[in-house]
Amino acid sequence: MNNLHSTQILQKSKVEKLKINCTKTCNCKTNHINCLSPKEWVKGQVAVWEFYYTKEDLRDKNIHPAMYPIALPSKCIELFTHKGELVLDPFVGTGTTLLAAKNLSRNAVGFDLKKEYIEVAKKRLKQTSLNKETRQIPICDDAKNIPQYLEPESIKLCITSPPYANMLNKPRLNKSMRADLRENEHFMKVQQYSNDKRDLGTMEVPQFSEAIEDIYRGIFPLMKPRGHCVINLNDLWLENKRIPTHIFVIQAMERVGFELRNIIIWDKHNLVNGVGIFGWPSNYITLGTTFEYILDFWKPTTN
Ligand SMILES: C[S@@+](CC[C@H](N)C(=O)[O-])C[C@H]1O[C@@H](n2cnc3c(N)ncnc32)[C@H](O)[C@@H]1O
Repeated sequence: MNNLHSTQILQKSKVEKLKINCTKTCNCKTNHINCLSPKEWVKGQVAVWEFYYTKEDLRDKNIHPAMYPIALPSKCIELFTHKGELVLDPFVGTGTTLLAAKNLSRNAVGFDLKKEYIEVAKKRLKQTSLNKETRQIPICDDAKNIPQYLEPESIKLCITSPPYANMLNKPRLNKSMRADLRENEHFMKVQQYSNDKRDLGTMEVPQFSEAIEDIYRGIFPLMKPRGHCVINLNDLWLENKRIPTHIFVIQAMERVGFELRNIIIWDKHNLVNGVGIFGWPSNYITLGTTFEYILDFWKPTTN
């Protein structure tokens, strides 16, 4: 390699660390995990969570095929951070986590491979003028590059919903819907995020688990000790077999050094309309659309 070429590669890979605050700005005691009162804390102790959409949710699969409701990251941000602290979303999509952080006066950074989603995130953030004293930054880059942007021990909460391996990479059959509702505008469409080889949504489960491990190995040193890492995802069904993706993700996170703290069930049955009969009379399978996992890990302290 000649000298000019190697300098160009070096320049391309050099990213300046972001200038973003990561320290708490509230007056809560430093041994408190969050700003919640005991009464608010009690509400978070039930391990089954339900969410409702609000007017800030986009709910348009033509914009993005798999957005979570803003109430989900909002609840986690309130549970695991103080005002002013730094939140990271490695797979930020349309910026739902960033919007939740803005509403709650937390600093936040989010990454996504796809430029179009980052543009949507920027637009959503511009629509609210709340909490100008904090910053929320959407960045178009591979989640593998996150360590180039952030300082060690700066993140208090990492929360995301990654692609559920290659679950969306096949024609959508709407099998869980009532037969007369199945052939809607999304029927038989492939709703994948992209064809980019780095996109975790293009990967079979073993490769997906390795990619998750690799990305979170990079994030681990950036987390504050006892900082939480929340991952929302679902299992897959492939050729009539359940693939327990959530177990593979727990194993990958434990290999990195995170400890599993809570498994929360997101009860989605309030969001499911027009459910069809499924498997009767010989094959009992609960509908995957009625719940998802919210896995909560933390970075343990070393002593
Ligand atoms: C389930 S979606 C997240 C949606 C987001 N929670 C929202 O509400 O809009 C997962 C996202 O991961 C992105 N993605 C996949 N592989 C990635 C990678 N290697 N680095 C960064 N983003 C990636 C996809 O483009 C997709 O937008």
